[in-house]
Amino acid sequence: MPLAEKGPSFLNVLEVDDPKLCVLLHLMTPMEPIEPVMESPLARPLAQQKTAASDLLTEVGSAKTAMEGMLLANMEKNAQFPFISYYVINTSQTDPVDFFRNLQAASLKKFDPRNLRYTAAHTLDLFNEVATIARPPLDPSSKRPNSTTTGYIISVYKVFEGDDGEKFEKNWLYWTGARMLYRYLPKSAGLRRITLHKSISSGDKMYLLLCECSNFLENLSSAALLLPALRARLCGYTGLYKTTASF
Ligand SMILES: *[C@@H]1O[C@H](CO)[C@@H](O)[C@H](O)[C@H]1NC(C)=O
Ligand SMILES: *[C@@H]1O[C@H](CO)[C@@H](O)[C@H](O)[C@H]1NC(C)=O
Ligand SMILES: *[C@@H]1O[C@H](CO)[C@@H](O)[C@H](O)[C@H]1NC(C)=O
Repeated sequence: MPLAEKGPSFLNVLEVDDPKLCVLLHLMTPMEPIEPVMESPLARPLAQQKTAASDLLTEVGSAKTAMEGMLLANMEKNAQFPFISYYVINTSQTDPVDFFRNLQAASLKKFDPRNLRYTAAHTLDLFNEVATIARPPLDPSSKRPNSTTTGYIISVYKVFEGDDGEKFEKNWLYWTGARMLYRYLPKSAGLRRITLHKSISSGDKMYLLLCECSNFLENLSSAALLLPALRARLCGYTGLYKTTASF
């Protein structure tokens, strides 16, 4: 994919062209009680949701159908997506469509409102990586964080079908805020890579920008300073995340 500009010298622009890897993202909204009047003041729906999402990740991990997986938890109050699961699929080993169907079925079962007494909206989609900028040396096939202090800035954008042309993607560094991130994130955050994902399914497109910083959790204030500026751009959702489970 043609890139509008070269990244700064400390980052490498990787033309991602590896059709053998595919990413499944599972975005979850906060769980709402199906009977709000019965809700106990001691209820901890967020903790319950985290347990269910971690269990699901563990099940997928032991099925060995995905190469890697992570459960990302939002670190702010009242997030639109408190949890996002991220799976890397090797398409030479696993059919992504089968993987998607199996995960969807497992998720419906795991989050069945009849058992949990809560409901949430679940968005599952398969994505391609359309572009990555990364600090070398980096193994592009592994998405695992390289430190326990790794945190992520994630932005999600929905784009109408047909508006996602090449011209649009050529300017992704601008409209996603990626350029702002690599220019203004303090060096201490340890920016490691920024990856743009695009949904594969037909119809309206979803883009998800994942910005990985190795020392993020050591000094959250540095990223927090950038958030208002990122949020002032376009219509996407932006949040701060950390890994709570992985395989
Ligand atoms: C994906 O699977 C193929 C076939 O098993 C294997 O040759 C390749 O190394 C795998 N890719 C990665 C990144 O693990
Ligand atoms: C993790 O990656 C960052 C960015 O590439 C690098 O600065 C840091 O030294 C790495 N940490 C470890 C423990 O390898
Ligand atoms: C945290 O980041 C802020 C903003 O970049 C910086 O002013 C401050 O010195 C940093 N604190 C530490 C302990 O590194």
